[in-house]
Amino acid sequence: MIEAPSVPRLQTINLTKSFGELRACDGVSVNVNAGEILALLGENGSGKTTLVNMVAGLYKPDGGEVRVSGAPVAIHSPTDARRYGIGMIHQHFKLVEVFTAIENICLGMPRESTRRGLMARTLAFIEKYGLGVPLDMKAYRMSVAQKQTVEILKALVRGADILILDEPTAVLTPQESEKLFDILRKMKEAGCAIIIITHKLAEVMELSDRVSILRAGRNVGEFATAKTNPRELTERMVGRKVDLSIERVHAQKRPLLTLEDVSYAHAGVKLLDGVSFDVSGGEILGVAGVAGSGQKQLCEAIAGLTGITSGSIRLLGEELAHLSPREIYDRGVRLGFIPEDRLGMGLVGSMDVTDNILLREYRTQRGGFIRRKPVRRKAMTLVSDLAVVPPDINRAVSQLSGGNLQKVLLGRELMQSPQLLVTSYVVRGLDVNSSYTIYDLLNDRKKNGVGALFIGEDLDVLLELCDRILVMCAGRVTGILDAKHATRAQIGLLMTGSEAV
Ligand SMILES: Nc1ncnc2c1ncn2[C@@H]1O[C@H](COP(=O)(O)OP(=O)(O)OP(=O)(O)O)[C@@H](O)[C@H]1O
Ligand SMILES: [Mg+2]
Repeated sequence: MIEAPSVPRLQTINLTKSFGELRACDGVSVNVNAGEILALLGENGSGKTTLVNMVAGLYKPDGGEVRVSGAPVAIHSPTDARRYGIGMIHQHFKLVEVFTAIENICLGMPRESTRRGLMARTLAFIEKYGLGVPLDMKAYRMSVAQKQTVEILKALVRGADILILDEPTAVLTPQESEKLFDILRKMKEAGCAIIIITHKLAEVMELSDRVSILRAGRNVGEFATAKTNPRELTERMVGRKVDLSIERVHAQKRPLLTLEDVSYAHAGVKLLDGVSFDVSGGEILGVAGVAGSGQKQLCEAIAGLTGITSGSIRLLGEELAHLSPREIYDRGVRLGFIPEDRLGMGLVGSMDVTDNILLREYRTQRGGFIRRKPVRRKAMTLVSDLAVVPPDINRAVSQLSGGNLQKVLLGRELMQSPQLLVTSYVVRGLDVNSSYTIYDLLNDRKKNGVGALFIGEDLDVLLELCDRILVMCAGRVTGILDAKHATRAQIGLLMTGSEAV
């Protein structure tokens, strides 16, 4: 049978899925053609992941239909999805850590496919799309980008030509994202149908052919990418006019944090190398750098999670180097910390919003009893200030969408009235609207004298929001710039270690 080009390779028609009372997808119809990249856009909790999970056989739809090349299909499991050529790259990878790349790729393949045959297929895909990954490296030794490449290879070797990627770039550096996009473009050229979920509008504009927008579980618009722009997309997404400029507020500055010649070595590698800088209360200091330049160690050293080899970290006159988070707290220093790895640290999935706040609060309560009522009130404020969806403080946080989880974590830290906030990629995974809510919140705290260390990856945001920008490369500070006068090019040079600007 010759396929008419007008029939979409993949189509959902009125797909519906509820979780209890909540209708996560309410009759969602999207389609993608062979040789096309569709971007799926929508606020946090708008139903994007739910939709693609139904297509991938992870959730059973309550209603509606999936069609592959025009034919209705029943997808009850990931195996079914695979049979129809559907491959899904989840945000949290599903590799066996102690297996090598090739072992992961071969895992679960039918017995008649020999290892040698699979190897040949794998190598052919590596060649065809330029997928660089050492096949005999064990998964636990791989970078996030390498793991993602293995997931893509797995899908391809299993015959996928419909590829769905759920926020693939949320975990990648800008350079790695570019590489992924090159690969996706080649796959599109080769006739694959690709759906990509992302919150980054620049990526939508750069990569996709069409954009489909969801709001509160419903289709609210579809655009040819070439005929739209970030503002129009954002307005459709949130359902009202939005202002995409970030305000840099002015605040009274006072001394707060000083680092002097801080170094930290682990297993013979210098992860922080003579780092010196200061942050004032009433200031947002941005930190730019290629991922892995020492940002993580810097944050953890300040928060008392790793020791340092030498140097001094003083917050409000107290020497913090070598103190544990508990000891820092006991000295009356209030430090809020949003780590890079937000699921690993900080929230307990099976507990609700209130209990997760309690986890952080119990120290401030006196006496042997824990009073839940004031904490419930705080939870309610958090949920409304940060527009957590659904606004339900009794819901287990594991049932929240990725972005809403992030809001709860941030809200909880802000609630401790910190004097210093250390935030690492705080808007990762947040929709445009929520990102701006967070910038406003940071500015609001700044006006109240709070100092912030803002580790970011979007240079435009760093330039607009921050007072100064510190640039790191290979554990060293390569420059500290006044954000009002700095340029992207300058920061870019410093990120690669060129100190002469
Ligand atoms: N397993 C689940 N149980 C209960 N509710 C769920 C479950 N999975 C998702 N939800 C709810 O369904 C809604 C849609 O969630 P979904 O994860 O699809 O959003 P999303 O558009 O992917 O958001 P994000 O951009 O934050 O990842 C949310 O309100 C979420 O809380
Ligand atoms: Mg999601």
